[in-house]
Amino acid sequence: MPTPRHFISILDFDTDEIAAVLTTARRLKQEGKSHKDSPLVGKTLAMIFQKPSLRTRVSFETGMTQLGGHAIYLSPNDISLGKRETTEDIAIVISRYVDIIMARVFGHDIVADLAKHATVPVINGLSDFEHPCQILADFQTIIERKGRLEGLNACYLGDGNNVAHSLMFGAARMGMNMTIITPKGYEPKDGVTKQAKDIASTNGCEITISNELQSAKDQDVLYTDVWASMGQETEAEERKRIFKDYRIDADTMKLAEDDAIILHCLPAHYGDEIDYATSRLPNSAIFDQAENRLHAQKALMFHLAG
Ligand code: CP
Ligand code: NVA
Repeated sequence: MPTPRHFISILDFDTDEIAAVLTTARRLKQEGKSHKDSPLVGKTLAMIFQKPSLRTRVSFETGMTQLGGHAIYLSPNDISLGKRETTEDIAIVISRYVDIIMARVFGHDIVADLAKHATVPVINGLSDFEHPCQILADFQTIIERKGRLEGLNACYLGDGNNVAHSLMFGAARMGMNMTIITPKGYEPKDGVTKQAKDIASTNGCEITISNELQSAKDQDVLYTDVWASMGQETEAEERKRIFKDYRIDADTMKLAEDDAIILHCLPAHYGDEIDYATSRLPNSAIFDQAENRLHAQKALMFHLAG
């Protein structure tokens, strides 16, 4: 049996593959809800969740329906990964039933372990380390608003988390300059920064890590995410104090380019990492970004299972 392609990290795809998925995503968006050439007809997606979700669950499930396939939602209570049975056995058994597995997990090692033992493609629907599906939708949105990725200046304000990691890797692959602005001690993991910088240097762009809010100056894209991710709820109050200035608001907008676009992967905590008024400006693309999860993931499933 050939080894399946997985999408555990945005780095699993090279520059051309990411570009191809984004081109397909644009076409599928134009086509709407039904597609003549879907390779997913009659196929099944298993969606394993260890954490809550609105966008990831609904966009994958709807996407599969629109592609002529079927999706099965497995809640944290249905599959206790590694508790009721091993991740290895789960991967082997599910692979005997379905054609693609998508998993949202706590530890990145869990989704990597699923991929190691599955005989069908495994998609990372968010781990503590990366959120690669989000970045496909983000890039589709940036291209819609700005016409390109290459050569743009994008910055992310907040926690150096899973979303920041995938943004850095993705930007490095696509030639987009990316500045990550965090409070001291909350920078992205050193290994990620090093790897992203190395890739960026071969693609004519730069990855920059900063603790200075002024680094939002002249940026074309402003991005933020929650200060406390899923699983960090006990740190939420402490983080509110530490992160209070690392947000998108009227002051950040003054620093950035006048036509800078605003992105947020959602869910948003209004008043914390972004204020409500800023999120509703014409520059804000946050709901296009949420919609594009549907189109980008349909394109991803085309690519993996087509
Ligand atoms: N952005 C995102 O992944 O949203 P959900 O947590 O609702 O899936
Ligand atoms: N960093 C956030 C992203 C949510 C989509 C989290 O992991 O909770």
